[in-house]
Amino acid sequence: MTDYVVKDIALAAYGRKELDIAETEMPGLMALREEYGTSKPLAGARIVGSLHMTIQTAALIETLTALGADVRWASCNIFSTQDHAAAVIAESGVPVFAVKGQSLTEHWDYLDRSFQFADGANLILDDGGDATLYILLGARAEAGEDILAVPTSEEEEAIKVQIKKRMEESPGWFTKTREAIVGVSEETTTGVHRLYDLFRKDLLPFPAINVNDSVTKSKFDNKYGCKESLVDGIRRATDVMMAGKVAVVCGYGDVGKGSAASLAGAGARVKVTEVDPICALQAAMDGFEVVVLEDVVETADIFITTTGNKDVIRIEHMREMKDMAIVGNIGHFDNEIQVANLKNHKWTSVKEQVDMIEMPSGNRILLLSEGRLLNLGNATGHPSFVMSASFTNQVLAQIELWTKGEDYKPGVYILPKHLDEKVARLHLERIGVKLTELKKDQADYIGVTVEGPFKPEHYRY
Ligand code: NAI
Repeated sequence: MTDYVVKDIALAAYGRKELDIAETEMPGLMALREEYGTSKPLAGARIVGSLHMTIQTAALIETLTALGADVRWASCNIFSTQDHAAAVIAESGVPVFAVKGQSLTEHWDYLDRSFQFADGANLILDDGGDATLYILLGARAEAGEDILAVPTSEEEEAIKVQIKKRMEESPGWFTKTREAIVGVSEETTTGVHRLYDLFRKDLLPFPAINVNDSVTKSKFDNKYGCKESLVDGIRRATDVMMAGKVAVVCGYGDVGKGSAASLAGAGARVKVTEVDPICALQAAMDGFEVVVLEDVVETADIFITTTGNKDVIRIEHMREMKDMAIVGNIGHFDNEIQVANLKNHKWTSVKEQVDMIEMPSGNRILLLSEGRLLNLGNATGHPSFVMSASFTNQVLAQIELWTKGEDYKPGVYILPKHLDEKVARLHLERIGVKLTELKKDQADYIGVTVEGPFKPEHYRY
């Protein structure tokens, strides 16, 4: 029996061509293959990946296997898979369970299947925390907690159904799996929030490395990645003329900064909403008008949420929007926009991941990817180069957990600064950056060493 679920395995040849191109833009990952390909520090590691199954992720997977790991993979979002990327990974012999447009039921079934190593999984590579959540919730249910009985959203119902199924099929499986996991590395802001929350509640049983807060992740992927991929998603979805339009970006964190820059670069007139006075001041001083949503909801053309928060664009906002306003989210989960409250309206599917929804006033809105992250749903996510920086951190985190995991107590950790600087350094040559070298007396003068780290821990970049 084939140990994968992909849309079409015949797409593998196309996937391989794109993967070959991606590798030329992923110098960090390629350098790790060079550095560790012989010593294989991940030998014995059985890694479950739950992260958008894109071409860039395929390059990550092939790096993990080149370093000795056994890997099984699922996507962390129902719309983000690139089917040719999944196909090339399946063909290479790595079990992968991911189809663009899979249902929520399939989402959790595929995640469960990615845990089914013959000898059990021992590491998680997570994006948004679903893989970690699945195991920890399941183990709590096995311990007799009544967490599956509480009625919740459609999304949470789907995970509960899958947990119940696994509990019936293999009693004790969650607890056994939780005990075998030596650690998790987490890719994104939302997943990191979940980890700190688990830790505060004393519910985190293993060490977690917060990859998101490596400087070479959040200050690059979240920012420069979204700068390229947000407008890409809107254009592929709608072909709308961006120049001259009024766009509202909700949230001015790392993703918001990249998103506002993306829209401004395309000629849109960008307004920002924020709750944090520091980020609001940053937006204003970057030249964006900072507004409250209620004041612009009737006049703006494009609305993008980037907050990682819930209920940011609500039904009462969407009711006020002008005809053919575009509404989308680039944060991790779809609850930034109250999509559930639109369900009883008239939906017309324009094409995959683009819906036109008629509001009571007769005005229509164009909703992208049903409110799920549109840069991966409507386009192909961030470019390879920036993902190379993110995924080089991921691989270093997995090596750290696998080779030194026992040194860590349960908790959430960030990779040391010298590794952050290493990741950046690996990406300089590809774009012709020449670094100035410190002289010894200069290094002494500013209190660092010639080799770095070049900044104190509290420096914010
Ligand atoms: P962040 O914490 O840097 O920024 C979020 C900002 O939203 C904060 O400044 C916060 O003050 C603001 N905010 C919160 N509630 C708000 C509200 N009701 N109205 C207006 N502003 C509000 O987080 P970051 O790194 O920018 O990530 C944001 C989301 O994007 C997360 O869910 C993250 O996981 C996701 N993400 C998505 C990526 C993608 O490719 N689509 C890439 C990286 C992260």
